[in-house]
Amino acid sequence: MATQLKSQSAQFDPSATDLWLTRSWPELFEQMRREDPLHFTSDSRYGPFWSATKYKDIVEIEALPKIFSSSWEYSGITIADRPEDSDEEPMPMFIAMDPPEHTPQRRTVSPKFTPSEINFMEPEIRERTGKVLDSLPVGEAFDWVDLVSIELTTGMLALLFDFPWDERRKLTRWSDYAGDLNAANDEEFAKERMNVMYEMGMYFAGLWEMKKQQEPGRDLISMMQASEAMNHMPERMFIGNLILLIVGGNDTTRNSMTAVARTMHMWPEEWEKVRGASEAEGSKEVKNAVQELIRWQTPLAHMRRTALEDYELRGKTIRKGDKVIMWYASANRDEEMFEDGDRFIADRDNARRQLAFGYGIHRCVGARLAELQLTVLVEEMMKRNMQVTCQGEPERVDSCFVNGYRKQMVTVTRD
Ligand code: HEM
Repeated sequence: MATQLKSQSAQFDPSATDLWLTRSWPELFEQMRREDPLHFTSDSRYGPFWSATKYKDIVEIEALPKIFSSSWEYSGITIADRPEDSDEEPMPMFIAMDPPEHTPQRRTVSPKFTPSEINFMEPEIRERTGKVLDSLPVGEAFDWVDLVSIELTTGMLALLFDFPWDERRKLTRWSDYAGDLNAANDEEFAKERMNVMYEMGMYFAGLWEMKKQQEPGRDLISMMQASEAMNHMPERMFIGNLILLIVGGNDTTRNSMTAVARTMHMWPEEWEKVRGASEAEGSKEVKNAVQELIRWQTPLAHMRRTALEDYELRGKTIRKGDKVIMWYASANRDEEMFEDGDRFIADRDNARRQLAFGYGIHRCVGARLAELQLTVLVEEMMKRNMQVTCQGEPERVDSCFVNGYRKQMVTVTRD
């Protein structure tokens, strides 16, 4: 068990769902960073856990994968533990692996995310983004999450995998179930979720077989099938890694796109700063604003590690076996790094140092693709002189993991 705090501060519990539903977490983390930046919560719906809330501490933890494990063996990468009596074998995926196993598996997919591969995808992403924007009703309220964020994200993933276009919304359903932590506390839901995960696994197994029969294309599945390392990998591992890519790219990109609407509504003057520059595609001003957007949103509020040995940090001892939650949402508002961090500032000079993609060996492999999709969305909106007004507050996701939106009604105007 973990060392108890000497601090007199009351226990904080950043995993409480209400905080995320009402977006009151920025204030809580501000207090934690001030009063007890490495905090131990002894009792929560997810059991006991440490909270790392400072930028510097999270970087330190992420840089030590041999001490702070991501492995399924110790319950993986989110605050929710795998039930001890679970007979469900977790899908092998490299986000939940430690070195040396992690490295070769990541290498099988990373060639699809090099700058040249991303450039190759750009024209199609731009064309599809333009089509979606041109189909939006003007002057009439609609749900931005549904018509823009989900539509563009599933389109981007369908393109990446060469996934059957008409069935692309399946990706959304699967990903929503996969990222839902309620399975940790609700047996019925856990069963329902397992069935959906099974359905997803079967679908991908079918797609995998189908692709094997075809001429190899430039999509991710063909690339995985052609890779040397994959020839030695069991099929279950292929499928696990495919699922990882879908789930990893889905909620995250989707919620960043909804943050485009939120920030354009809340800080139109900030977006005005980049409007001129957006005429040249790929300008550094728009790229910087996109980093700032990702920082401000931080679509994954946390990642989890499990300590494999005792470790001293901030004068406290994290004990072997303890669960450590790295709150990126807090690090991205750490006043030692980002001044006035809960504000979106399009030309913030260190926006690129945001931690929303993590740090170290597990740093997001899809970061470039997400950045491209968001840059293209902003540029294409600006070309159309599109202005967004949010109609009321959004419906938020009830999760301390996926920091996002279920619904955001908006109206748009354009040239
Ligand atoms: C890993 C965030 C988009 C695929 C991660 C991690 C974070 C993250 C926080 C874990 C880092 C860690 O444990 O240290 C995001 C955000 C995105 C995004 C904020 C969008 C704004 C994508 C996309 C894809 C993707 C578009 C793929 C299509 C992955 C994969 C990993 C990962 C495969 C595992 C990397 C590893 O373990 O080596 N992402 N992600 N992500 N992400 Fe993303």
